Amino acid sequence: MESEYQNNTYITKSLKFLYNTVSELSRFNEPVDAKIIMLEELGSVYALGLYNPPIKQPAFWTLLTTVLDTEHQNTFNEFVHAIKSHIADEGVLTLHIEKSEFIEAIREYYSIKLIETLKNCPVNSEFVYNKPRVERLKIIINQLEQSHSLDLSGRVLEICCGNGMATAALSELDIRPLCIDNDSYSILEGLASEVLKPEKTIVANVAELTDVIKGEEFDASIGFMLGDIDEFNRPSWKEILIQTIKLTKKGGNLLFTFRTEPEVVFVKDLLEELATGDVICQSETESLYDCWIYIGKKKPV
Ligand SMILES: C[S@@+](CC[C@H](N)C(=O)[O-])C[C@H]1O[C@@H](n2cnc3c(N)ncnc32)[C@H](O)[C@@H]1O
Repeated sequence: MESEYQNNTYITKSLKFLYNTVSELSRFNEPVDAKIIMLEELGSVYALGLYNPPIKQPAFWTLLTTVLDTEHQNTFNEFVHAIKSHIADEGVLTLHIEKSEFIEAIREYYSIKLIETLKNCPVNSEFVYNKPRVERLKIIINQLEQSHSLDLSGRVLEICCGNGMATAALSELDIRPLCIDNDSYSILEGLASEVLKPEKTIVANVAELTDVIKGEEFDASIGFMLGDIDEFNRPSWKEILIQTIKLTKKGGNLLFTFRTEPEVVFVKDLLEELATGDVICQSETESLYDCWIYIGKKKPV
């Protein structure tokens, strides 16, 4: 029902639709011949599918969910039960599916929808796969594993992934991060080039990360080429970093790369209270990608 993934964190459109549906159904005194599917976890309904029969168009299901909007969980449940009470029993199917599995499915849905919506946009996959950078990043990560006990074997979050140019290096190291960026076109480039995986990619604002990703924590958080960070957008980058740290487990790994020294220093100072970390100048000769590195761990308390 919601047009974008992030809109599922505050389901205004869905609630309006549910309200209207309940109002419509309340006109009927007899059970209505319709089909719905309710998805439940621990006795609470978090998603509703409504079957639309083929009238002038092929049949389809309308899917509504409160899985990312905990604030409206109760209201959603009340609406769903009101709808269910008007539908003949044989039309109601209840499925028990883990929320985490369902969330992956809706990520995949919005990724596929993005590809379909922007299918006429040109994508240059050769630009996305930058072999010299990928090779360089793989070496950097291997070195950091030795020098700073960087551990990317658990659940990994990659913020501001852009078109996945750096994600490609992670993939080649068998690291499968959950990727997030707010630029739809960059995400489209990454999905179309297959460096970003549909079920592991989200278009959303990282400054609102704790609303977008619920009930998940990460063993490591990564961001490549964060920036440009300048005096005008520092508050926004501050929020991006703070939100990312909130979703990182205590003691979890942090790896951020930058183009310039002032950017890495800004982040190191910002994280002083929350993490312990080092700044590394990776290369005097490289002038564009991943020149400066922040490598650290979130403090255990
Ligand atoms: C310099 S690019 C780096 C892209 C990619 N990580 C790489 O290394 O190739 C910075 C990325 O940050 C993203 N970004 C900036 N602010 C953001 C925000 N508030 N939420 C999500 N992504 C953001 C931009 O859309 C852009 O893709």
